[in-house]
Amino acid sequence: MTSEKEISYIPKIIVAIDGFSSSGKSTMARELAKRVGYIYIDSGAMYRAVTLFAMNHGLIAGDGNVSKEELIRALPSLDIKFQPSAGEDGIQHTLLNGKDVEQEIRSMGVSHNVSPIAEIPEVRQRLVEIQQEFGKDKGIVMDGRDIGTTVFPEAELKIFVNAGVHERARRRWRELVQKGTDINFEDVLRNLEARDKIDTTREVSPLRKAPDAVELNNDAITHEEQMEWLLKIFQERTENL
Ligand code: CDP
Repeated sequence: MTSEKEISYIPKIIVAIDGFSSSGKSTMARELAKRVGYIYIDSGAMYRAVTLFAMNHGLIAGDGNVSKEELIRALPSLDIKFQPSAGEDGIQHTLLNGKDVEQEIRSMGVSHNVSPIAEIPEVRQRLVEIQQEFGKDKGIVMDGRDIGTTVFPEAELKIFVNAGVHERARRRWRELVQKGTDINFEDVLRNLEARDKIDTTREVSPLRKAPDAVELNNDAITHEEQMEWLLKIFQERTENL
């Protein structure tokens, strides 16, 4: 007879969800992790935390120029962690050197500076090491730009998410307005376009669909349809393990 424990057993794999800014990948990744009892890691939050550190330490000049040497020297001392569902919002919070920076890292100031910081090879190397450590026991869903290509090229399930830039900008603008940010739609659109360009053309780990990733364009599907699709693929990939 099959025990209840066996029925509810979910094998541990690595799920890599990559895609463009505001394509809804974080929501998908977070929900999947919750449904299947996996750890969820938002790798973008880590690049945002390094950016916030650089901004707070005067390492980014008014013209956007980054004091790279100083930032690279500070990297080993940066401690980035996640606190699961800390706040009332039920969303995990990012901790930078022990301080909750979840709200600050989502600001437009950070969004404006993050892609140039994420282009620095030493920054990527350090964060990729931490991300690989998070995934060493599998049972993880991580979202970002290079998860299926660089962080976990051996991930058992890779998803590449996209949607049109106007639809993505509308989503991000609505999200920011709902949080009370006074922001113009055009500024959000310009920021997404600028980041897409840097993220897809940088030399180290540019945003690319891994050859073995399953592609999803979620321009015209509902949130529920998207989750149903994702859970079905997850089940297919794990059922024979
Ligand atoms: O929230 P949004 O989807 O706009 O972006 P994010 O996932 O928070 O990532 C912010 C930025 O970090 C991206 O625009 C990339 O420049 C960088 N990033 C990266 O280079 N590699 C990752 N794995 C994740 C983010």
